[in-house]
Amino acid sequence: MTELNRTVLTVQHLTKDFVFRGGRAACGAGRVHRAVDGVSLDISEGEILGLAGGSGSGKSTLSRCIIRLVEPDSGRVFLRGEDVRAAKGSDLRALRRRIQMVFQDPYASLDPRMTVGAAILEVGRVHKMPGSSDPNSFVATLLDRVHLHRSMASRRPSELSGGQRQRVAIARALAADPDVLIADEAVSALDVSVQAQLLNLFVDLRDELGLAILFVSHQLAVLAQISDRIAVMNAGRIVELADTASLLSSPEHEYVRALLAAHPHPDPRQRIL
Ligand SMILES: Nc1ncnc2c1ncn2[C@@H]1O[C@H](COP(=O)(O)OP(=O)(O)O)[C@@H](O)[C@H]1O
Ligand SMILES: [Mg+2]
Repeated sequence: MTELNRTVLTVQHLTKDFVFRGGRAACGAGRVHRAVDGVSLDISEGEILGLAGGSGSGKSTLSRCIIRLVEPDSGRVFLRGEDVRAAKGSDLRALRRRIQMVFQDPYASLDPRMTVGAAILEVGRVHKMPGSSDPNSFVATLLDRVHLHRSMASRRPSELSGGQRQRVAIARALAADPDVLIADEAVSALDVSVQAQLLNLFVDLRDELGLAILFVSHQLAVLAQISDRIAVMNAGRIVELADTASLLSSPEHEYVRALLAAHPHPDPRQRIL
């Protein structure tokens, strides 16, 4: 297989402006804020690309633009060569299925009244996934994949720990059988020990399913543990994109050096491989 074939997601010159509305011009109404400014990146099969950057640097907006939860103003997104921005109707729905997101707060995406099993099955049914016609085995397979006991299927979100809830959110994302997983601060709210277990799970998903993962975190130390490459964003732009070891050992951009100085211990020897 050539290197080109292994590229799953390609983002080219993506740009997103937010226009401040309301109030008077003197208060900033009509002012344009460029949240994402000409971002290009790609992710291969079985690769974790870490996306770092301070709060407000545009990481979440970029993630949402890729899947068109936020409509970008310009630039292009390709999923295995298919043009995501040009897609409409059922084609767009099909492409969206193949790029799944996991957010910081799984509570927000889980219906408190639904059992874990029903929540996982719902995604399979919405996308008419072949396995979902056999609910028990569909749910069991996905619980296995995220290392949750099968008996969890009958629990409700309030009966789970934060880490377990996040595993359910990941199982729901996997229920759509995606090519790309975008995790936006998916471990940021968890304790360090739970965080480490979840990071192991993402590495397993990369290795066992060959998923292409965009792993977004403001914590460079977290990205250092699992990313194959890291892109660093500042003010809407990617200021540096390099393989993890060289970015940590010899950062070229001043902003990256400042980030490393602020978080001094992202030790690549602690990488989960
Ligand atoms: N819906 C929106 N309307 C206006 N401005 C927004 C909106 N979403 C994000 N922004 C602004 O875009 C910038 C980037 O935000 P965001 O992508 O959330 O950054 P990050 O995820 O890196 O913290 C911030 O200045 C933020 O205030
Ligand atoms: Mg964010």
